[in-house]
Amino acid sequence: MHEPRATPAAGPAAWSAYYEKTGARPPRETLIRALDAFDRTPGRDRLAVDLGCGGGRDVVELLRRGWTVLAVDAEKTAIERLAARGDLPESGTLRTAVGRFEDVEWPVADLVNSSFALPLCPPAAFPGLWSRMVASIAPGGRFAGQLYGDRDEWAGDPSITFHTADEVEALLDGFDVEHLREEEDDSVTPRGRPKRWHIFHIVARKGD
Ligand SMILES: C[S@@+](CC[C@H](N)C(=O)[O-])C[C@H]1O[C@@H](n2cnc3c(N)ncnc32)[C@H](O)[C@@H]1O
Repeated sequence: MHEPRATPAAGPAAWSAYYEKTGARPPRETLIRALDAFDRTPGRDRLAVDLGCGGGRDVVELLRRGWTVLAVDAEKTAIERLAARGDLPESGTLRTAVGRFEDVEWPVADLVNSSFALPLCPPAAFPGLWSRMVASIAPGGRFAGQLYGDRDEWAGDPSITFHTADEVEALLDGFDVEHLREEEDDSVTPRGRPKRWHIFHIVARKGD
């Protein structure tokens, strides 16, 4: 199922509407795949960082499975709404940070999850962000999330980073790629406008 996206150039009001619409939806498929893979090798510490957590659909699932989660988002509203959710599971531990992931520091984690968020930075900032993200994954840990493809209709927006399939492959060098699905099709935005999507859905495990 396609998901509404508030970008490009979403301001706080547009993001708020997005959180309202999507926050209570089920967790992303990429997160579920990563968590199921962790569950097959019990005994690890369970610290996850969710970069661009939005309304918290993935955070709720992480907490439900007992993870400690650092939820990061540039929008204060996202973090406030998340903290105020009435359905936060008692299990797990939630920490939050407001800030752009290009600027925020986070600890080494077993999982870095970033659903439909990590490419929401200017292309000049992406390589440094990606390197820092990779360095922050513990050996044997995972990245789960999406990258945006170069044939996405929004390609060319200077606030978003887009990648070709070859570039995605290069970014994942050094990972065991457990899931890589390239999606390219047409859908409709929340405002009813036709939209061409090109998305890479990724779950990748860092070597021990
Ligand atoms: C498309 S939403 C996805 C939200 C959530 N991960 C989900 O799957 O529903 C992108 C989120 O990333 C946040 N975001 C965008 N650019 C960001 C940046 N550079 N640093 C931190 N958060 C950012 C937005 O505020 C928004 O909440």
